[in-house]
Amino acid sequence: MKQIFFFVGFILPLALVNSCSNSKHLDKSTNQAKIKEGLKDHFKEYFTIGVAVSPQSLKTDEAGLILQEFNSMTPENAMKMGPIHPLENQYNWAGGDSIAAFAKRNNLKLRGHTLCWHNQTPRWFFTDSATGKQVSKEVLLQRLKDHITTVVSRYKGTIYAWDVVNEAISDKKDEYMRPSLFYQICGEEFIAKAFQWAHEADPNALLFYNDYNEINPAKREKIIRMIKDLKAKGVPVHGVGLQGHWAINEPSKEQLESTLKDFSELGLNMQITELDISVYPKEHNARERKAEDYDTVFTAEKEMKQVEVYKNCFDLFKKYSKHISSVTFWNISDRRSWLDNFPVRGRKDYPLLFDAQLKPKKAYWEIIKK
Ligand code: G3I
Repeated sequence: MKQIFFFVGFILPLALVNSCSNSKHLDKSTNQAKIKEGLKDHFKEYFTIGVAVSPQSLKTDEAGLILQEFNSMTPENAMKMGPIHPLENQYNWAGGDSIAAFAKRNNLKLRGHTLCWHNQTPRWFFTDSATGKQVSKEVLLQRLKDHITTVVSRYKGTIYAWDVVNEAISDKKDEYMRPSLFYQICGEEFIAKAFQWAHEADPNALLFYNDYNEINPAKREKIIRMIKDLKAKGVPVHGVGLQGHWAINEPSKEQLESTLKDFSELGLNMQITELDISVYPKEHNARERKAEDYDTVFTAEKEMKQVEVYKNCFDLFKKYSKHISSVTFWNISDRRSWLDNFPVRGRKDYPLLFDAQLKPKKAYWEIIKK
């Protein structure tokens, strides 16, 4: 009897307080998320607002910011060929599943990235395990089909849109297709096949071709030519993804207007899939560090230039919102960006709308102005 009184009198209230404080803390952050309007609310009449995430970021204070500001997510690396399918007979679902579960739990839309890319593709895809030689076109296409069918089927009904093929067009003026191993072994055929297999695995998923440097007229012309060619062959391409890795010196408002105008005339679903605005002049190739790269101060001058580019971007995204269904930022905050290691390894960049303390920056307040 004494134990019962001790439990009812002492332990129970303790447990209750404890769970109250935990759930109160969680409720507090989600309630705050509920209370305070975020980007997703400010742009709800135009397009969804997404963010690229890692499984780790969902276990930190960044999770609260994601719930407050965004209504869509993209796995930054977890669903790419290498991370999710490291060996022929081995899939690594943990990272992708944790992001899918978070999206489902919190009613966030989820974009899949990416089913076929020349980067982060494990060597086994192209190598005959018995001979070590390069595989034939038939073998590579079969491996690509198995990969796409397996991954798309697993996330059927959870992922609403896939970047099926990423960056297949060459940056070189006199070259049409990027000479990737997929292209060298299969020619252009791998692209149409990839879309066909993704569509067969999930007929409801929106299928995108995704690329960067789309503001370059010569590259844009090639991307549009390829998509028109695929459409003419009846290939199920539903959308085009403009990555949007831009900077304080590009694009100009005119460059971006003509880019969005050209792609809107394709009549496809258009999405900005990897937006960030570097505070350093735009470069497309990795390079060694130079003396000036040691100056990584985020000056007021750099911030004002960034504010202007973000303002131009969102003014035009709203103008073309009949064609643009989603705008996704590549990474959450300046706490960590892929641009901290590209084009110069270890040069801190500040390309996003939230600072390292997850506080909105000037560009945030500028773009949400009515
Ligand atoms: O996971 C390994 C880890 O085990 C290892 O200890 C560590 C050591 O280097 O590397 C980790 O892999 C890194 C991976 O990110 C996960 O963090 C790779 O080295 C690194 O190269 C990879 O960088 C990713 C990059 O794509 C690869 O090309 C960036 O995070 C990611 O933001 C970036 O995203 C691409 C889009 O997919 C396509 N468009 C361009 C965009 C920027 O490059």
